[in-house]
Amino acid sequence: MTLTRRRLLAGMAAGAALPALPRTLGAAAAAMPVLRTEELSARLLPPEYPETRLWSYAGRSPGPELRLAQGARLRRRLENRLPAATTVHWHGIRIDNAMDGVPGLTQDAVPPGASFDYDFALPDAGTYWYHAHEKSYEQVARGLYGALIVEEPDPPEVDREEVLVLDDWRIDPATGQLAANFEMPHDRSHAGRIGNYITTNGAQTLELAARRHERLRLRLVNASNARIFRLGLMGLEGWLMALDGMPLETPAPLTATLTLAPAQRADLIVDVIAEPGGEAFLVRQERDGGYAQAVFAVAGQAGAARRDAPGALPPNPVTALKAPGTARRLTLHMEGGAMGGMQGAMLNGRAADMREIAGANQFWAFNGMVGMPDAPLAELDRGEEVRVAIRNDTAFPHAMHVHGHHFREIGADGARGPWRDTLLVDRGETREIGFVADNPGDWLFHCHMLAHAASGMMTWFRVTG
Ligand code: C2O
Ligand code: CU
Repeated sequence: MTLTRRRLLAGMAAGAALPALPRTLGAAAAAMPVLRTEELSARLLPPEYPETRLWSYAGRSPGPELRLAQGARLRRRLENRLPAATTVHWHGIRIDNAMDGVPGLTQDAVPPGASFDYDFALPDAGTYWYHAHEKSYEQVARGLYGALIVEEPDPPEVDREEVLVLDDWRIDPATGQLAANFEMPHDRSHAGRIGNYITTNGAQTLELAARRHERLRLRLVNASNARIFRLGLMGLEGWLMALDGMPLETPAPLTATLTLAPAQRADLIVDVIAEPGGEAFLVRQERDGGYAQAVFAVAGQAGAARRDAPGALPPNPVTALKAPGTARRLTLHMEGGAMGGMQGAMLNGRAADMREIAGANQFWAFNGMVGMPDAPLAELDRGEEVRVAIRNDTAFPHAMHVHGHHFREIGADGARGPWRDTLLVDRGETREIGFVADNPGDWLFHCHMLAHAASGMMTWFRVTG
């Protein structure tokens, strides 16, 4: 594999807070910590460029790492100092519905100068993230996201841990600023807003120090709007420990490429095997070879010898799937987009042809409906098990995300995949997921290629009881 340290921009062709509601928290209730959204000028690009204007949580992008213990409550007062309304979605948390941060479904968007109190329990340990959910195709692209880490009571033995938030930005090379074409029809109808400047924690090539035989936990988050990362290791030997926060039953040696679709997370444990004085890499595979997504400069030894392979992380309390046969069966038929051949679909309650749909800057349909339907995809009784066959009849892959629940893929042979909250469904594929609808409320089910979600690929389901 060739490895190039990419130094140049590649592919350039292309007011006062509202008072809190009174709460019966008792006298000991601590003041609500604040999470402020605000504009930020950041040193994102190489020094020959100006600083780039972003949107941020607490003046940073990625926003501050929120780290809590499993079972704790996360409490934050969102104070919106942006010139636009916003909300926070806590991606992957099996959350109280009212705290899910979906404007128009679970709350109103928070206008400039106003605030909203988020206060919810964290049932599962693992790697999660938070991001804006109002015009997310624009607000996430501007930098409104951060990592949310929920720690196991009994964490695995590692020397250190690194949270690596991956993003790609679309920069106008003439100005060094974000390209302002957030609603571009070409992005919406094709692969989404793909950037031309790729970062880890805001750095083009993140540089970290390491020692030989050191054991690290890497928590990877794909915060990009649409880019599918394909990752590998060099000078590191690793195990895949968890996906989308949820531990694998057995850690999987990381030999092949790890695919990380938008919104997906992966927890790795890696041992540094490069020699002192050498380098180890988290490698991003692209068509023309490998690129350094993160570099570890190896100095010294952490120990004389390699350690045994890690054991599994403790499982989270997700409701197990029952015997097949009892589940409610649903189908999600995905159509549309460029080269998709969709003739027409329901748009705003009436039949429309593709030309009219495209004229509204919409391109995709779920079960023949463009965008959020008035009626849910399904009304499920609390505790009911559901199977959804997701049929991708488009020319693009889609990262399908279920809010409020984790699911397992059900293979053609009935084999159950790992617990996930976001599944990459390639073009032409039909993939089935199953979960127990044990979290009451109204939950989104959408593509996490954010331009797709905004141009038709969005539905919801209701869990009653
Ligand atoms: Cu991470 Cu509905 O989103
Ligand atoms: Cu999509």
